[in-house]
Amino acid sequence: KTAKPPKAKARVKPTAPPSQVHQPASILTRVVARGRFQKVPDSLTLTAGDTLELRCRGRSVRWRFPAYLEDEDEGRLRCVIKHFERHSQLLVVNARAADTGEYSCWSFQCRDSECQDGEDRMGKAFIFITGQELFVPTEDYYEVVQLRTNHSTLLPCQVTSPLAQVTLHREFPPEEVAVDGLDISYDVKRGFVIHRPRPSYAGSLFCLASLDGMRQISTKYMLIYINYPSSAPKPTVGASAATVRAGENFNVTCTVLGEPEVMVDFTWEYPGQQIGRPPYSRERADLARRGGQVQQESESILYVDEARAIDDGLYTCSATNLQGTTTVSTRVRGPNLLPFSLLPFV
Ligand SMILES: *[C@@H]1O[C@H](CO)[C@@H](O)[C@H](O)[C@H]1NC(C)=O
Ligand SMILES: *[C@@H]1O[C@H](CO)[C@@H](O)[C@H](O)[C@H]1NC(C)=O
Repeated sequence: KTAKPPKAKARVKPTAPPSQVHQPASILTRVVARGRFQKVPDSLTLTAGDTLELRCRGRSVRWRFPAYLEDEDEGRLRCVIKHFERHSQLLVVNARAADTGEYSCWSFQCRDSECQDGEDRMGKAFIFITGQELFVPTEDYYEVVQLRTNHSTLLPCQVTSPLAQVTLHREFPPEEVAVDGLDISYDVKRGFVIHRPRPSYAGSLFCLASLDGMRQISTKYMLIYINYPSSAPKPTVGASAATVRAGENFNVTCTVLGEPEVMVDFTWEYPGQQIGRPPYSRERADLARRGGQVQQESESILYVDEARAIDDGLYTCSATNLQGTTTVSTRVRGPNLLPFSLLPFV
């Protein structure tokens, strides 16, 4: 059986006083020179061109490293991993700005094909590779970023030195964007995090880094604001009549009450569908005030003209928004094939 990487979980603060908390030694070390090892701190800064050699203690070790390193480069892997009996080695020769990121390893204990892992068998470090490039290079000249209602958003302008001063800027009109640590904050290992997206943040933004007289700008981020619903729609459905007679017109209405400016798509399934019965539907969306709150009422009405026997059955409406789809049905009793009084043998 293959062991899976440990799931990311929130760190729980120890309840015992710090002196009594067992602090396991990290299984991750760095080889600084032949035969010389160094405990790896939470973050470490190397210079472009350096060699990064990490060791992880354990018999069965897995590594995680910046995704970029997994790409082949000039026919060879930039990051070479070798497993030994009691440890594993990760080697990056001639490190570059793009190699900046988190490196982690964990070791398994496997017995009778059952593998276990735990916090004490894990090590990680954030490694900055500084040089002429202040930002970790990306492939794209600009990136489209969706800002969604109530969802925090990352602008991943990651720097290659923890000492770089980084500010956020708008392209048109050119101005610096205020970073108050509350609505927007900066994390040297990740970039800018927009905690409370607003429509006014939309537009073209970039990061500016300065260090030792160097100033560089990041990839541009094209921010698009999207009104994002808090949940999947909750439709209700009802027919204009529960029973219809032959030749009568009827309609089935599917209604969703939700947040304003959130698109809802409707699709229908109905008994006459297989034979290509052509009902038609009409949609509308209006704002409605309910209990002091403005809500959007979205509706789809399916019209069936001149009811026939085939129209008897279940009318199903599926309403979809960005959070999901909800399906509701109602039953319509259609006209019998033959009137009861004309059925033979009764
Ligand atoms: C956003 O969060 C606020 C407060 O938590 C909540 O009242 C509101 O319904 C949420 N809106 C959406 C669209 O998720
Ligand atoms: C739906 O059908 C009923 C009965 O034929 C009709 O009275 C009603 O106006 C129709 N509703 C709409 C929105 O057309």
